[in-house]
Amino acid sequence: MLDKEGFVLIKNFFDPNKILVEANNTLLKAQKIKWRYAKIYHNIFINNFVNFFSVRYPGHKKLDNNLNNYLAELNLQNTISKYTKWKNFKITQIELQHNEKYNYQSTWHRDWHNSNLENIVIIIYLTDEKGFRLVKRNDEKKLSDNYPSLKEKSYKFGYTNLPKDFYHEFDVKAGDVVIFDAGLLHQGFVKGKRTHFFIRCKKIENEISKNFDEIIEDHLKINASNEVLEQNAKEDSYNYDINYFSLNNRIKSLIYLVLYFIPIHKIFKFLKDRKKKFIHFHYSFFQK
Ligand SMILES: [Fe+2]
Repeated sequence: MLDKEGFVLIKNFFDPNKILVEANNTLLKAQKIKWRYAKIYHNIFINNFVNFFSVRYPGHKKLDNNLNNYLAELNLQNTISKYTKWKNFKITQIELQHNEKYNYQSTWHRDWHNSNLENIVIIIYLTDEKGFRLVKRNDEKKLSDNYPSLKEKSYKFGYTNLPKDFYHEFDVKAGDVVIFDAGLLHQGFVKGKRTHFFIRCKKIENEISKNFDEIIEDHLKINASNEVLEQNAKEDSYNYDINYFSLNNRIKSLIYLVLYFIPIHKIFKFLKDRKKKFIHFHYSFFQK
């Protein structure tokens, strides 16, 4: 459970079909209008597309969809209250995270500076997905005893090769939901296709209504102004000013495509790392 293990997996929470269709249309629309608030974590070639990792503000009117209504129908407020025992909270981030065909593996990191159940992540799975890794709350001590550098909210040692008995690996189906304490160490991982919602939620003191439209922050609202979106995007560490649709970046993506299958730049690092303390083949065909 969320208090002891730091996560909860809710099987068959919803029927994913209707939302998946809408999410796929949103991804197409975002590509078509070159949505400024999309994240690309590895610029690798896909025919007619840019390799999206995430669409931010997915319910915005410019993306022309019903996603905010569909999310409201899931009644997440009740689920959040039930598992966290929080009285009042706000949804601070909603991303439509997607992976089209190439492998993806993030660093080991934490999304929040403590793991006292102040801030949570909710993942709403629209497709089956395998590989997301999380160090459980009851394994935090074992982790800090053996890997003191992973105690901090730091990305410096992010590609540490952590043994399998230190973390839980999720194998979930479309329609499942995972909630975890954002302060716990985790690593994004997928081979091939995936689509899910990533939702961040924080506990607050002052009382607010439990209406979905009122618990989402202003930048997540359908009618959010450009200024509100831009201001929120500035608070993110991601740089939205790089235009991955440009000719220059499309040409670069072809080079990354070759390196994905023949990662020569990674082979030297792998050979030099004799004790295999780090992983080296993330974002490549040989990811594991
Ligand atoms: Fe994260």
